[in-house]
Amino acid sequence: MKKISDFHIIEKSFIGKSVFLKLYSDEELPKINAGQFVQIQIEGNAKVYLRRPISIHDVDEQKHTIDLLIQKVGEGTSTLYNLRIADKLNVIYPLGNGFTLPESKDDLVLLVAGGIGIAPMLYLAKLICREGMKPVFLFGGRSKDDLLLIDEYSRYGEVLITTDDGSLGEHGLVTQHSLWSKREFDRIYVCGPLPMMKAVAKIANERRIWCEVSLENRMACGLGACLCCVENTRDGNICVCKEGPVFNINRLLW
Ligand code: FES
Repeated sequence: MKKISDFHIIEKSFIGKSVFLKLYSDEELPKINAGQFVQIQIEGNAKVYLRRPISIHDVDEQKHTIDLLIQKVGEGTSTLYNLRIADKLNVIYPLGNGFTLPESKDDLVLLVAGGIGIAPMLYLAKLICREGMKPVFLFGGRSKDDLLLIDEYSRYGEVLITTDDGSLGEHGLVTQHSLWSKREFDRIYVCGPLPMMKAVAKIANERRIWCEVSLENRMACGLGACLCCVENTRDGNICVCKEGPVFNINRLLW
Protein backbone atom coordinates (compact mmCIF):
# COMPACT_ATOMS: atom_id res chain seq x y z
CA MET A 1 0.00 0.00 0.00
CA LYS A 2 1.44 3.35 -1.10
CA LYS A 3 1.60 6.20 1.40
CA ILE A 4 2.53 9.86 1.42
CA SER A 5 4.06 10.72 4.77
CA ASP A 6 6.32 13.22 6.46
CA PHE A 7 9.52 11.75 7.84
CA HIS A 8 12.18 13.43 9.97
CA ILE A 9 15.89 12.84 9.69
CA ILE A 10 17.09 11.33 12.96
CA GLU A 11 20.56 10.25 11.87
CA LYS A 12 22.96 11.44 9.22
CA SER A 13 26.50 10.42 8.39
CA PHE A 14 28.86 10.58 5.43
CA ILE A 15 30.05 7.22 4.19
CA GLY A 16 32.70 7.59 1.52
CA LYS A 17 31.20 9.85 -1.13
CA SER A 18 27.65 8.98 -0.08
CA VAL A 19 25.37 10.18 2.68
CA PHE A 20 23.43 7.89 5.01
CA LEU A 21 20.07 9.19 6.26
CA LYS A 22 17.82 7.51 8.81
CA LEU A 23 14.23 8.73 8.43
CA TYR A 24 11.61 8.40 11.14
CA SER A 25 7.83 8.56 10.75
CA ASP A 26 5.23 8.89 13.52
CA GLU A 27 3.03 6.57 11.51
CA GLU A 28 3.26 2.82 11.16
CA LEU A 29 5.13 1.74 8.05
CA PRO A 30 3.29 -0.32 5.43
CA LYS A 31 4.87 -3.59 4.27
CA ILE A 32 8.03 -2.76 2.34
CA ASN A 33 9.84 -5.18 0.03
CA ALA A 34 13.57 -5.06 -0.61
CA GLY A 35 14.25 -3.34 -3.93
CA GLN A 36 11.34 -0.89 -3.64
CA PHE A 37 12.07 2.84 -3.59
CA VAL A 38 10.84 6.15 -2.21
CA GLN A 39 10.11 9.43 -4.02
CA ILE A 40 11.33 12.38 -1.97
CA GLN A 41 10.10 15.94 -2.31
CA ILE A 42 13.12 18.21 -2.53
CA GLU A 43 12.55 21.51 -0.73
CA GLY A 44 14.70 24.60 -0.63
CA ASN A 45 16.11 24.30 -4.17
CA ALA A 46 14.19 26.20 -6.85
CA LYS A 47 15.97 24.26 -9.60
CA VAL A 48 14.51 20.95 -8.41
CA TYR A 49 10.77 20.60 -8.80
CA LEU A 50 10.42 16.84 -9.28
CA ARG A 51 10.63 14.31 -6.49
CA ARG A 52 13.78 12.19 -6.48
CA PRO A 53 13.64 8.38 -6.53
CA ILE A 54 15.92 6.82 -3.90
CA SER A 55 16.24 3.13 -3.29
CA ILE A 56 15.44 1.82 0.20
CA HIS A 57 18.60 0.72 2.02
CA ASP A 58 17.07 -0.68 5.19
CA VAL A 59 13.80 -0.73 7.13
CA ASP A 60 12.92 -1.12 10.80
CA GLU A 61 9.15 -1.62 10.97
CA GLN A 62 9.10 -1.56 14.77
CA LYS A 63 11.00 1.71 15.06
CA HIS A 64 9.22 3.25 12.03
CA THR A 65 12.50 4.02 10.30
CA ILE A 66 13.73 3.83 6.71
CA ASP A 67 17.43 4.12 5.89
CA LEU A 68 18.69 5.65 2.66
CA LEU A 69 22.19 5.61 1.21
CA ILE A 70 22.46 8.43 -1.31
CA GLN A 71 25.16 9.26 -3.81
CA LYS A 72 25.51 12.87 -4.91
CA VAL A 73 24.83 12.91 -8.65
CA GLY A 74 22.97 16.16 -9.33
CA GLU A 75 21.04 19.10 -7.89
CA GLY A 76 18.38 16.96 -6.18
CA THR A 77 20.74 14.58 -4.43
CA SER A 78 23.08 17.48 -3.54
CA THR A 79 20.19 19.09 -1.69
CA LEU A 80 19.51 15.84 0.15
CA TYR A 81 23.22 15.67 0.94
CA ASN A 82 23.02 18.98 2.78
CA LEU A 83 19.97 18.19 4.92
CA ARG A 84 20.31 18.29 8.69
CA ILE A 85 19.10 16.22 11.63
CA ALA A 86 15.41 16.99 12.37
CA ASP A 87 14.74 18.28 8.84
CA LYS A 88 11.40 17.11 7.46
CA LEU A 89 11.04 15.16 4.21
CA ASN A 90 7.80 14.40 2.40
CA VAL A 91 8.00 10.88 1.02
CA ILE A 92 5.84 8.74 -1.27
CA TYR A 93 6.58 5.08 -0.57
CA PRO A 94 6.97 2.17 -1.02
CA LEU A 95 7.06 2.36 -4.82
CA GLY A 96 7.65 -0.23 -7.53
CA ASN A 97 8.09 -3.96 -7.26
CA GLY A 98 11.01 -5.30 -5.28
CA PHE A 99 13.05 -8.49 -5.34
CA THR A 100 11.40 -11.91 -5.14
CA LEU A 101 12.62 -13.74 -2.05
CA PRO A 102 13.96 -17.31 -2.48
CA GLU A 103 11.32 -20.02 -2.23
CA SER A 104 13.53 -22.74 -0.81
CA LYS A 105 15.74 -22.55 2.25
CA ASP A 106 18.24 -24.70 0.34
CA ASP A 107 18.76 -22.07 -2.36
CA LEU A 108 22.30 -20.76 -2.68
CA VAL A 109 21.94 -17.03 -3.09
CA LEU A 110 24.38 -14.51 -4.56
CA LEU A 111 23.87 -10.74 -4.29
CA VAL A 112 25.99 -8.82 -6.80
CA ALA A 113 26.35 -5.04 -6.66
CA GLY A 114 28.55 -2.25 -7.89
CA GLY A 115 28.84 1.34 -6.71
CA ILE A 116 25.74 2.69 -4.97
CA GLY A 117 23.95 -0.46 -6.23
CA ILE A 118 24.87 -1.95 -2.86
CA ALA A 119 22.13 0.20 -1.25
CA PRO A 120 19.12 -2.15 -1.65
CA MET A 121 21.21 -5.24 -0.93
CA LEU A 122 21.29 -4.68 2.84
CA TYR A 123 17.53 -4.95 3.37
CA LEU A 124 17.36 -7.80 0.83
CA ALA A 125 20.04 -9.70 2.76
CA LYS A 126 18.20 -9.08 6.03
CA LEU A 127 14.97 -10.53 4.63
CA ILE A 128 16.83 -13.52 3.15
CA CYS A 129 18.47 -14.16 6.54
CA ARG A 130 15.05 -13.94 8.21
CA GLU A 131 14.00 -16.84 5.96
CA GLY A 132 16.87 -18.88 7.39
CA MET A 133 19.40 -18.49 4.55
CA LYS A 134 22.74 -16.73 4.31
CA PRO A 135 23.56 -14.94 1.07
CA VAL A 136 27.00 -14.41 -0.43
CA PHE A 137 27.76 -10.83 -1.50
CA LEU A 138 29.94 -10.00 -4.48
CA PHE A 139 30.68 -6.27 -4.60
CA GLY A 140 32.73 -4.40 -7.17
CA GLY A 141 34.19 -0.92 -7.29
CA ARG A 142 36.85 1.12 -9.05
CA SER A 143 39.00 1.15 -5.91
CA LYS A 144 38.68 0.31 -2.21
CA ASP A 145 37.20 3.75 -1.51
CA ASP A 146 34.10 2.74 -3.50
CA LEU A 147 33.37 -0.23 -1.24
CA LEU A 148 31.12 0.99 1.56
CA LEU A 149 29.78 -0.57 4.77
CA ILE A 150 31.54 -3.90 4.28
CA ASP A 151 31.42 -4.65 8.04
CA GLU A 152 27.66 -4.04 8.05
CA TYR A 153 27.08 -6.42 5.11
CA SER A 154 29.39 -9.03 6.67
CA ARG A 155 26.85 -9.45 9.48
CA TYR A 156 24.52 -11.10 6.97
CA GLY A 157 26.86 -13.16 4.80
CA GLU A 158 30.29 -13.60 3.28
CA VAL A 159 31.44 -10.52 1.34
CA LEU A 160 33.64 -11.02 -1.71
CA ILE A 161 35.15 -8.01 -3.47
CA THR A 162 36.68 -7.00 -6.77
CA THR A 163 38.28 -3.66 -7.58
CA ASP A 164 39.35 -2.32 -10.95
CA ASP A 165 42.72 -1.21 -9.53
CA GLY A 166 43.26 -4.24 -7.28
CA SER A 167 43.36 -2.10 -4.10
CA LEU A 168 40.90 -4.46 -2.35
CA GLY A 169 39.75 -8.01 -3.04
CA GLU A 170 40.44 -9.58 -6.42
CA HIS A 171 41.72 -7.41 -9.26
CA GLY A 172 39.17 -6.92 -12.06
CA LEU A 173 35.42 -6.85 -12.57
CA VAL A 174 32.79 -8.73 -10.56
CA THR A 175 32.32 -11.07 -13.53
CA GLN A 176 36.02 -11.98 -13.34
CA HIS A 177 35.94 -13.06 -9.67
CA SER A 178 37.21 -16.59 -9.05
CA LEU A 179 33.94 -17.60 -7.36
CA TRP A 180 32.33 -18.04 -10.79
CA SER A 181 34.61 -21.02 -11.45
CA LYS A 182 34.40 -22.48 -7.94
CA ARG A 183 30.82 -22.15 -6.75
CA GLU A 184 27.30 -22.64 -7.95
CA PHE A 185 24.24 -20.56 -7.09
CA ASP A 186 20.49 -21.02 -7.49
CA ARG A 187 19.58 -17.34 -7.39
CA ILE A 188 21.42 -14.18 -8.33
CA TYR A 189 20.23 -10.66 -7.48
CA VAL A 190 22.01 -7.73 -9.14
CA CYS A 191 22.04 -3.96 -8.73
CA GLY A 192 24.57 -1.52 -10.13
CA PRO A 193 25.83 0.02 -13.36
CA LEU A 194 24.05 -1.25 -16.49
CA PRO A 195 27.14 -2.87 -18.12
CA MET A 196 27.77 -4.80 -14.89
CA MET A 197 24.17 -5.98 -14.65
CA LYS A 198 24.17 -7.06 -18.30
CA ALA A 199 27.46 -8.94 -17.84
CA VAL A 200 26.15 -10.79 -14.77
CA ALA A 201 22.85 -11.50 -16.56
CA LYS A 202 24.84 -13.02 -19.42
CA ILE A 203 26.54 -15.44 -17.03
CA ALA A 204 23.17 -16.27 -15.42
CA ASN A 205 21.59 -16.86 -18.83
CA GLU A 206 24.43 -19.11 -19.98
CA ARG A 207 24.23 -21.15 -16.79
CA ARG A 208 20.43 -21.02 -16.61
CA ILE A 209 20.49 -19.46 -13.15
CA TRP A 210 17.42 -17.58 -11.92
CA CYS A 211 18.38 -13.89 -11.84
CA GLU A 212 16.75 -10.56 -10.99
CA VAL A 213 18.22 -7.14 -11.72
CA SER A 214 17.22 -3.69 -10.49
CA LEU A 215 17.06 -1.18 -13.36
CA GLU A 216 17.94 2.44 -12.77
CA ASN A 217 16.18 4.09 -15.72
CA ARG A 218 15.73 7.82 -15.35
CA MET A 219 12.50 8.53 -13.45
CA ALA A 220 10.32 11.59 -12.87
CA CYS A 221 6.86 10.82 -11.47
CA GLY A 222 7.68 7.35 -10.11
CA LEU A 223 4.02 6.45 -10.51
CA GLY A 224 3.61 5.31 -14.10
CA ALA A 225 2.23 8.65 -15.36
CA CYS A 226 5.03 10.42 -17.26
CA LEU A 227 6.42 7.45 -19.26
CA CYS A 228 10.00 8.71 -18.99
CA CYS A 229 11.24 5.43 -17.52
CA VAL A 230 9.94 3.10 -20.25
CA GLU A 231 11.96 -0.04 -21.01
CA ASN A 232 11.37 -2.18 -24.06
CA THR A 233 10.93 -5.75 -22.79
CA ARG A 234 9.66 -9.11 -24.05
CA ASP A 235 6.25 -7.91 -22.83
CA GLY A 236 6.50 -4.65 -24.82
CA ASN A 237 7.20 -1.17 -23.44
CA ILE A 238 6.73 -1.02 -19.69
CA CYS A 239 7.26 1.56 -16.98
CA VAL A 240 10.25 0.64 -14.85
CA CYS A 241 8.91 2.71 -11.95
CA LYS A 242 5.66 0.76 -11.77
CA GLU A 243 6.45 -2.73 -13.04
CA GLY A 244 10.06 -2.67 -11.82
CA PRO A 245 12.56 -1.47 -10.92
CA VAL A 246 13.30 -5.16 -10.30
CA PHE A 247 12.92 -7.54 -13.25
CA ASN A 248 13.68 -11.16 -13.88
CA ILE A 249 16.21 -11.21 -16.71
CA ASN A 250 13.83 -13.45 -18.70
CA ARG A 251 11.65 -10.40 -19.26
CA LEU A 252 14.46 -8.21 -20.61
CA LEU A 253 15.78 -8.01 -24.15
CA TRP A 254 19.39 -8.39 -23.03
FE1 FES B 1 7.02 8.46 -14.66
FE2 FES B 1 7.94 5.97 -14.61
S1 FES B 1 8.83 7.71 -13.77
S2 FES B 1 6.21 6.74 -15.63
